[in-house]
Amino acid sequence: MCGIVGYIGKREAYPIILNGLKRLEYRGYDSAGIALYDGKDIQLCKTQGKVADLETKAETEINREGNVGIGHTRWATHGVPNDVNSHPHYSNNGELVMIHNGIIENYASIKKELTNRGYTFKSETDTEVLVNLIEDIQKQEKVKLGKAVQIALNQVVGAYAIAVFDIKKPNEIVVAKLGSPLAIGVGEDEFFIASDASPFIEFTNNAIYLEDEELAIIRLGRDVKIRKIKDDKLVAPYIQELQLNLEQIEKGGFDHFMLKEIYEQPSVIKDTYRGRLLADQGIVRLGGLEDHIEKFLNADRIIIVACGTSWHAGLVAEYIFEDLTRIPVEVEYASEFRYRNPIISEKDVVIAISQSGETADTLAAIKLAKSKGAFVFGICNVVGSTISRETHSGSYTHAGPEIGVASTKAFTTQITVLTMMALRLAKAKGTISNSAYMLYLRELELIPDQVQEALLSEDKIKEISAVFKDARNFLYLGRGYNFPVALEGALKLKEISYIHAEGYPAAEMKHGPIALIDEHMPVVVIAIKSEHYEKVVSNIQEIKARKGKIIAVVSKGDTAVRDMADYVIEVPHTPEALTPLVTTIPLQLLSYHIAVLLDKNVDQPRNLAKSVTVE
Ligand code: AGP
Ligand code: GLU
Repeated sequence: MCGIVGYIGKREAYPIILNGLKRLEYRGYDSAGIALYDGKDIQLCKTQGKVADLETKAETEINREGNVGIGHTRWATHGVPNDVNSHPHYSNNGELVMIHNGIIENYASIKKELTNRGYTFKSETDTEVLVNLIEDIQKQEKVKLGKAVQIALNQVVGAYAIAVFDIKKPNEIVVAKLGSPLAIGVGEDEFFIASDASPFIEFTNNAIYLEDEELAIIRLGRDVKIRKIKDDKLVAPYIQELQLNLEQIEKGGFDHFMLKEIYEQPSVIKDTYRGRLLADQGIVRLGGLEDHIEKFLNADRIIIVACGTSWHAGLVAEYIFEDLTRIPVEVEYASEFRYRNPIISEKDVVIAISQSGETADTLAAIKLAKSKGAFVFGICNVVGSTISRETHSGSYTHAGPEIGVASTKAFTTQITVLTMMALRLAKAKGTISNSAYMLYLRELELIPDQVQEALLSEDKIKEISAVFKDARNFLYLGRGYNFPVALEGALKLKEISYIHAEGYPAAEMKHGPIALIDEHMPVVVIAIKSEHYEKVVSNIQEIKARKGKIIAVVSKGDTAVRDMADYVIEVPHTPEALTPLVTTIPLQLLSYHIAVLLDKNVDQPRNLAKSVTVE
């Protein structure tokens, strides 16, 4: 779960790699390192800490010249984050240097064998084992680097995206992937290597996304030769034109990516439905769904698998799918689903939701569902990601790169896609009246403006944040469609402010959590006008009676809750099924401002990483 970058060409490699690592820091950030070939030697610099620490260290420690190099920002799996365990890693003879994203599961047995043959290891990483295995094969078999890498990878079990070069042959970098992403940017007489396209987007729009079990030999001034690792078959490189631009991945004037991404929601929700939702014409269509609509219409069941925030979007979908389409829906944590011998058949449709498209547990759940014959539909944000390629069909959310580790715009755009799917299926099944269908379409089209309106509460939310920033616990309550929003609000707060928070269905409070309530407990209640409004109002009374502090998210113009709550935040009216798209906004802002006031690292909270590519 790290970021890897490489360059081979005519430019200075150092600034390209360093900037690339900064852009990839969302993938992991406990240590960083770089190896450059300066024409004579390898210049290696690595350190525990952020890419900024690497930059400081590199300035004094290494000669930062050269046109070939690789860099890494790590999220440790094997061995604590420290300088020695940081990548790149050398092989024993000091000739091979490698970076790796992933896990070599059988590293211990390989390490033992290599140790018996006299190899020594400086780090605790699985990566150093792999680079030495490659050296050993090169020596034993007298083969070139590409071949040695191929033989080695046929012996390892696990996941990897690697880049390795040989200082005796510095005009060539060998890369390979299985389970972790790897893109090759193709410029004029230059090549870029990266975990995603962001490090090279200002240099080229052309990229090759390596497929699993492919190995590429990238040769300076020449070409990219791709082979299948298993059967050695040559693969013709498929060069894609990228739609990404640099502005999309920079902060655009905001203090943090998270805030920028919160504010992008009106426009990205529009991007998500653009060309798919034509309210005037009564049309909603998603390419990936249209092609396979029968699968959904004939399904016994829809099973949604996801993790974290994406799982919360799945919970919202459960309400809207069952409500509108009458198809039974189950929502599963991918990590539980994959290990509990679930009952799945060809009559089931599985929807996998993932912003990154790389989440290991979700990927494994997809593989399991496919092996049982289920049709698998993916909802991903990252184009070309592993999940988008592993699923039978799917829809992208088109939210643009989400850099803040705490997911915001991914959530609302996932719900937008899922809502469109539910409407399309309900229409096809005849489970929705024409007037309700038309109303939803029109209301969905208005959501970007309503999100914009919800964002206007930011100043008020800042004030509320200042009042409650020192609370040790928070409770979030919601009912129906807004129960998952309560869970999501609590997750956001935990993630970036490290304050303990629980999300609960409002009515469940009396079955336990009510015991926690006293004058020190802030309770965020989503109390919008809905079917359950009166019941939620009663829940608020129950909290009040126990002196809890109430922060209520209410429908515009509400007066009843205003009289009871300590603070109210208004959101615009929309049909209940669409309310999660607006009620989420103040909760995102609340967590953001509390974290800022507490001086936390909002975009890169401790212990987390943006894409969780380990189990
Ligand atoms: C959300 O704020 C989290 N950082 C996390 O829960 C995330 O949603 C989860 O890891 C799933 O990621 P994915 O959508 O990329 O699969
Ligand atoms: N397994 C390797 C390590 O622990 C790579 C982890 C990563 O993907 O960052 O160093």
